Amino acid sequence: MDLLKPVSSRFIRHVLLLTCVLTVVIGLSIGCDGVKISHFHENGVVASVSPIASQVGEQIFRQGGNAFDAAVGVGFALAVVHPQAGNLGGGGFALARDGGNGHIIALDFREKAPLASTEDMYLDNGGGVVEDLSSLGALSAGVPGTVAGLHALWKEYGTLPWEDLVTIAAKMADTGFIVDEYLAGSLADYQDQLSVFPETESLLLPGGKVPGVGEQLILSDLAATLYLIAAEGSEAFYNGFIADSIVACMAEHGGLITAEDLQQYQVMWRQPVHFEFDSLDIYSMCPPSSGGIVMGQILKLLEPYDLSRYFPDSPEYMHLFCEASRLAYADRSIHLGDPAYYSIPGRLLSPEYIDERRKLIPVDHAGSSDAIEAGSPLKYESDETTHFSVCDKHGNMVSVTTTLNATYGSKLVVSGAGFLLNNEMDDFSIRPGHPNLYGLIGGEANKIEPGKRMLSSMSPTLVLKDDKPLLVLGSPGGSRIITTVAQAIVGFSRFGLSLEEIVSQPRFHHQWLPDVVYLEEEGFFVDKIQALIKYGYHVQERSKYGDLQLIHITAEGLMHGASDPRRGGAVAGY
Ligand code: GLY
Repeated sequence: MDLLKPVSSRFIRHVLLLTCVLTVVIGLSIGCDGVKISHFHENGVVASVSPIASQVGEQIFRQGGNAFDAAVGVGFALAVVHPQAGNLGGGGFALARDGGNGHIIALDFREKAPLASTEDMYLDNGGGVVEDLSSLGALSAGVPGTVAGLHALWKEYGTLPWEDLVTIAAKMADTGFIVDEYLAGSLADYQDQLSVFPETESLLLPGGKVPGVGEQLILSDLAATLYLIAAEGSEAFYNGFIADSIVACMAEHGGLITAEDLQQYQVMWRQPVHFEFDSLDIYSMCPPSSGGIVMGQILKLLEPYDLSRYFPDSPEYMHLFCEASRLAYADRSIHLGDPAYYSIPGRLLSPEYIDERRKLIPVDHAGSSDAIEAGSPLKYESDETTHFSVCDKHGNMVSVTTTLNATYGSKLVVSGAGFLLNNEMDDFSIRPGHPNLYGLIGGEANKIEPGKRMLSSMSPTLVLKDDKPLLVLGSPGGSRIITTVAQAIVGFSRFGLSLEEIVSQPRFHHQWLPDVVYLEEEGFFVDKIQALIKYGYHVQERSKYGDLQLIHITAEGLMHGASDPRRGGAVAGY
């Protein structure tokens, strides 16, 4: 009997896995636009940028998996179907609530600077910044953390076999998946950059062409890599064939990541940033992400104002939000970095400090930022990170933001292993005062040092009320992630917006430098824009940004979600 048991359970597992893969593949081949706003579910919900990935999560719930199992399956699925930002070669952060004991944890799987990195590695002999060096190709890549991160999450909290969860993605890469209009459009937009490296072109632009909508994209090398990770765990990524391929890629293209860098990579379990806003408990990411602290400052600065008498597009509210953002992002540039390398002041969220800073908010006119080498993020427009939110009937909540940094990261695929490498090194302050891809300025706290984690803006967030799950949310958007999530929370708590309204509301952003309010194009009426200009703001319209993935849990424990209309995402659950 005992001898038969493992055989039969393995058989059942394989039947279940096959069912899952078939369901997802059949669902896709009949064309799955996905549900943007879900109805209520009892068991579990996933919101992500990809209908395919969200469906993977739903199937994992149907097989009895919990929110952590679903998050792992979704994370690997995104590495296949959303190559713009889903990844094996990048990093990220997760905020999670263990429904069993109510503990809330933060998991840091951020990339690290290779050990051979130096402070001036992107500068020429005269101290000038060499164009593209920190953002294109092998030298821009940090040591990846995603595979270790998803494995750590599963090891601590998962219930289904790791092999099964990863194999779903491996099979999708192996048999191919249907290219939707968002991927086809994105590949067309980036065709020139993706053609710079032949290994990238042959993976994502087979035959040198952008795959058409509805075509099948097969990623064989990526499938082999995923099967290896499925069979051997995260070890397979940091030692052996995959690690050797990364090191060979570095040798060929002039990068710095060594076998030692990969072997030494470790995730960090951290204490999340926690603060109260209204009667809500908000948990978000701590350094090396700036997300939790900057969001906490913005919301705490705003808290005493009676915002509910305004609307989300009222100039009065936008003025207050921009001034709070100006103060918080100014602190970001000076005070935040990897806590292992820089001593972060402990009182950035203390009530006394926030009260003191609030006095700097002018009542009826725009403040002014110091104009030191202000950058122009509009020049670049690369905010491709991705976020997914998951929760289940056990009270587990998982909020994951993961990234390659720019869209398709460094644009360099690891030959033979089939995945893109990040260009996360650009998130360091590569020279004091020099703006990064998002126009953010930094200094000493975020300078390049060997083994250091670069400062992030990613803000996976959980909201609880009276110790009960309430919201799981997050977004991509580079420096704009923080204001996107903060505006969602204000929208929920002060303006009483529905989930649909929260993900749809037009966004605005101020980040101290450059001293500009960015407004989403076509989002604001002319009279509102004129009112902001009258306050003294420099206003610029820009393309739509962010991709909120939001789940709300009712007091009865029912779950429903909303996926941002700006991109092709979907909510799935049952
Ligand atoms: N790479 C974007 C961020 O981490 O904020």
